[in-house]
Amino acid sequence: MMRIAVIGATGVVGRECLALLGDAAFPVDRVVPVASPRSAGRDLAAEFGLSRALDPVTTLDRLDPGEVDVAILCAGAELSRQAAERLAGAGVLVVDNSSAFRGRPDVPLVVPQVNGQVLRQRPPSGLVANPNCSTIQLVRALHPLHALAGLDRVVLATYQAASGGGVRGLAELAEASAAFLADPGRPPEEPGRFGQPLAFNLIPEIGPADVSGFSHEERKLVAESRRILGLPLLPLTATAVRVPVFHCHSEAVHVTLREPVTAAAVEDVLAAAPGLRVHRRGGGPGYPMPRTACVRPEDRALVHVGRVRVDPDDPRAVWLWIVADNLWVGAALNAVQAVGLAVGYGWLGGTSAAA
Ligand SMILES: NC(=O)c1ccc[n+]([C@@H]2O[C@H](COP(=O)([O-])OP(=O)(O)OC[C@H]3O[C@@H](n4cnc5c(N)ncnc54)[C@H](OP(=O)(O)O)[C@@H]3O)[C@@H](O)[C@H]2O)c1
Repeated sequence: MMRIAVIGATGVVGRECLALLGDAAFPVDRVVPVASPRSAGRDLAAEFGLSRALDPVTTLDRLDPGEVDVAILCAGAELSRQAAERLAGAGVLVVDNSSAFRGRPDVPLVVPQVNGQVLRQRPPSGLVANPNCSTIQLVRALHPLHALAGLDRVVLATYQAASGGGVRGLAELAEASAAFLADPGRPPEEPGRFGQPLAFNLIPEIGPADVSGFSHEERKLVAESRRILGLPLLPLTATAVRVPVFHCHSEAVHVTLREPVTAAAVEDVLAAAPGLRVHRRGGGPGYPMPRTACVRPEDRALVHVGRVRVDPDDPRAVWLWIVADNLWVGAALNAVQAVGLAVGYGWLGGTSAAA
């Protein structure tokens, strides 16, 4: 008997959690959607066209921790800091999508395909952290390359979609794009969810920069990747850019390995990794794109890699272009797969089926 609360169920990540729990590879008996008092009573199964029936939306203060086994938190770091430990203290396994606990040593930071073994036992804290969306797709591609030839250095730029800014970010991009097309001469809209106008623009700083000049998003990407890969000293540096794309994050990644490699060997090791699809030249354009790579459910569940090129001046250096659905691979699917892993390890839900 598995009862799961999705907290932040009306948001862009929460909604995908609800959909994925409907098809989970482990038995889910009840899903309790939780959101702010503004959303109380909404019937999300009907609104979102979901196949499984759901309780009406409830609020956090009405959620009885004794009635759920797992809570997937997708309502922002502030709410996670307020609610997660109280729920965990009441015996609920908390899987948190926010950045609130990602740096805490007693909270496993999990990407099932990379370091899933950290969930062999129930964490005593009762908390599991989901990494940042851009981190997950990066480490899922870097992990097999480390096994192939050892990672020496990673330099990347991200191209992050508006859905990373939640329901408000999506609405803001849609409205500002329509307004610009209706009147291209109008002054840019007031900075909103993204701090700068996003429509027909590029914003080369996501979140506040610290004294070093690196943004919060860039610092998270570096710290989380090193932790998940188990390489605390890995030289890794990034420029994170918000782009006017609705869904799917992309990354241009330059990886220096410890040994010389060929593009074919890199493609083969990536193609053999779970949940990774390599787009090769000759079969279509040879690269994934946000508009096309993450539409069908079977594609939304994958990390897509293309434009694999070995640097002609350095046979240890490889360029990759990585695209993944930030709402599935980068958040909801990773969280549901972490729950599936706990079920598979036998300490949650009393069965041995993994997602
Ligand atoms: N978007 C992404 O690509 C992504 C990727 C990885 C991780 N994350 C993380 O996932 C979390 C959710 O992000 P999102 O993009 O889905 O945000 P979002 O679309 O803005 O949704 C926020 C959700 O939080 C709920 N909420 C707000 N105040 C609440 C309260 N007091 N009690 C209960 N629920 C409350 C909202 O409910 P109402 O509708 O009732 O206001 C809504 O369901 C964040 O921590 C984010 O950092 C997001």
